[in-house]
Amino acid sequence: MIEAISHYLVEHNANHGGVFATSIESDRLLDQAHQAAADLLGTPDPQTVSFGGNMTTLTFALSRALSRHWRPGDEIVLSRLEHDANFSPWVLAANDRGATVRYIDFAPNDCTLNIDQYAHSITDRTRLVAVGCASNAVGTINPVKQICRWAKDAGAISFLDAVHYAPHASMDVADWDCDFLVCSAYKFFGPHVGIMYGRRELLESIQPYKLRPAPDDLPGRWMTGTQNHEGIAGTLAAIDYLAGVVDEGQREGNSRRSALVQSFDQIRTYEHRLLVRLLNGLGQNRLVKVWGITDPERLDQRLPTVAITHRDRSAREVADALAAAGVFVWHGNYYALPVTEALGVEPAGMVRIGLCHYNTAAEVDRLLETLDQIRR
Ligand SMILES: Cc1ncc(COP(=O)(O)O)c(C=O)c1O
Repeated sequence: MIEAISHYLVEHNANHGGVFATSIESDRLLDQAHQAAADLLGTPDPQTVSFGGNMTTLTFALSRALSRHWRPGDEIVLSRLEHDANFSPWVLAANDRGATVRYIDFAPNDCTLNIDQYAHSITDRTRLVAVGCASNAVGTINPVKQICRWAKDAGAISFLDAVHYAPHASMDVADWDCDFLVCSAYKFFGPHVGIMYGRRELLESIQPYKLRPAPDDLPGRWMTGTQNHEGIAGTLAAIDYLAGVVDEGQREGNSRRSALVQSFDQIRTYEHRLLVRLLNGLGQNRLVKVWGITDPERLDQRLPTVAITHRDRSAREVADALAAAGVFVWHGNYYALPVTEALGVEPAGMVRIGLCHYNTAAEVDRLLETLDQIRR
């Protein structure tokens, strides 16, 4: 990924749409990146994938465009298991238009959404249903396919935040049948670039806030301003890296999409082993509370992102102790403010241990030993 960025800058660096060699080469590479991102997201149509600054910027832009036609009496449905980037942009847009926000709660004991609430919250007044594929705070995987179906049945638009989900499991916009999905390449080992999928009819019919000379066709219509071309080149390389995670010997089929799906199967299996080790170890530490699903039978409903609090130490103090041992974790709310507010753990927040496929069992053990050494 790093080499791809450098190669782009040294060999091709140019703006979009010129008739000279570097611009033509650069545009060819951008086309390849749209195709790679389409493979990652699970759509056959690369033009339905746009790049942008980051997920938050893309979501604010879409919220402004989508809410143009919202009126008092219209409703949107948000979950409280969100990063604030899939919360505030919609609340602000609803407030601007006088629309009503309905909230879906989650159970504090296992941090899973109260699915029954959707039944009476999604109605013919609903314009939008926004939900995360997985929580960046407590790791819960949400039943997004079912939620998108309910939105569709009510004639509402569905919007999925896959930022936290993307490095851990295979995304599938076709199977989920969502209208929009956003993610961020820096979460799946790429550079700082945001990605947005949209259903073609919607991308073509909804009017974005755009400059007059900018393209009106896809994919350029939703990509405001000059893009981060070197970052997009790096994103292409990161997706190719992910497609190469599956062992050569086990690979079936030769499309990048099928390689990605198999890589994520392998990543899920590996991360699951690490998660079991981590949860077993944490379960033996009487001073630590784990938030989210811990039932060994239900671990397929969560990612290996584990939030904990310590009986005697603040999240910051625990993170400091771990940092001193060379274990890097986050503390506070990591912008998942709706979650930490609902759990009543503000302002100190929680410690978030985020495992990935590059982590090892020895690292999990080092973390557990360091936690054990923290005493009253
Ligand atoms: C679940 C989730 N959604 C949205 C975001 C915001 O993404 P970005 O930093 O690309 O704006 C994050 C970032 O941590 C996240 O974890």
